[in-house]
Amino acid sequence: MKLHELQEAILKLKKETNTVILAHSYQAREIVEIADFTGDSYKLSVDAKGVDADNILFCGVHFMAETAKMLAPQKRVFLANKNAGCPMAEQMDAEMISMLKEKEPDRTVVAYINTTASLKTVCDVCVTSSSALKIVKAIDNDKILFIPDCNLGDYVKRSIPEKDIKLLNGGCPTHAGITVKEVMKAKEEHPEALFLVHPECTPPVVRLADYVGSTSGIMDYAMKSDAKEFIIGTETSIAEHLQYECPEKKFYPVTKDIVCHNMKITTLPDVYNALKGIDDGSAFEILMDDELISKARKCIDEMIRLGG
Ligand code: 13P
Ligand code: SF4
Repeated sequence: MKLHELQEAILKLKKETNTVILAHSYQAREIVEIADFTGDSYKLSVDAKGVDADNILFCGVHFMAETAKMLAPQKRVFLANKNAGCPMAEQMDAEMISMLKEKEPDRTVVAYINTTASLKTVCDVCVTSSSALKIVKAIDNDKILFIPDCNLGDYVKRSIPEKDIKLLNGGCPTHAGITVKEVMKAKEEHPEALFLVHPECTPPVVRLADYVGSTSGIMDYAMKSDAKEFIIGTETSIAEHLQYECPEKKFYPVTKDIVCHNMKITTLPDVYNALKGIDDGSAFEILMDDELISKARKCIDEMIRLGG
């Protein structure tokens, strides 16, 4: 099947199965084109909550589909490719964080949304990269334990110096791999370009930025800016989507190697097969018991309450 034929078949199956597709901004162009909702993790969480269909098919990584299931528990939620996981989400577990909480019970535990549902059950509030500053400022406690991303955590800590924020040693391998040397080389090659960066990058890289924000934040900033050239410090798909949206501007990834293989594992045929598999039972469904949902959901609801 040609690409557009496959896309048309997907649109037809979506209707037949009463399914809504949520796709994270790191998904490939051909997937974004057939999605009903696209954006960063925060936007997709809010979108999932309002879905008016029987099924949600998530094109992204596992913790995102799990979050959608928690926010829309009465819906069936499927992940387009069952092997798409975020390595950062697996770095810490509930047992480890419970032990730390016992040692310092006066700290509010703030979990980046890139965590498992099981870990969320022992956390107080979630944040995403677009909501972290607002939420940490709004928390009625100056003592915070921020997990698992020490790079996003460092950005929050430096932006809110009045709070005592303790960090642990986790993070995103894709973003942490971007080096100052690579950024300086890109800046030399494109001296007029603004540097837009995701806060999962290391502090020395973030310090070189003209703008720091989530995937949607970076896209909005670049689309609204009067500047004509941008170096994009996040997964290469964002530079590609922006180039498509704004052909009159120029977008350069820091390097072509900033690829999240977990996000990129999902293909358009996966989306087609998942939709086909909803009725015959072969699609990968997110199944969570009610107790896990109710315990883990508290910190997501708190995120939406403080971040809304
Ligand atoms: P955003 O919330 O900015 O989309 O980030 C999600 C993510 O996994 C970035 O690596
Ligand atoms: Fe996880 Fe990093 Fe991939 Fe985002 S880019 S999904 S944080 S591994």
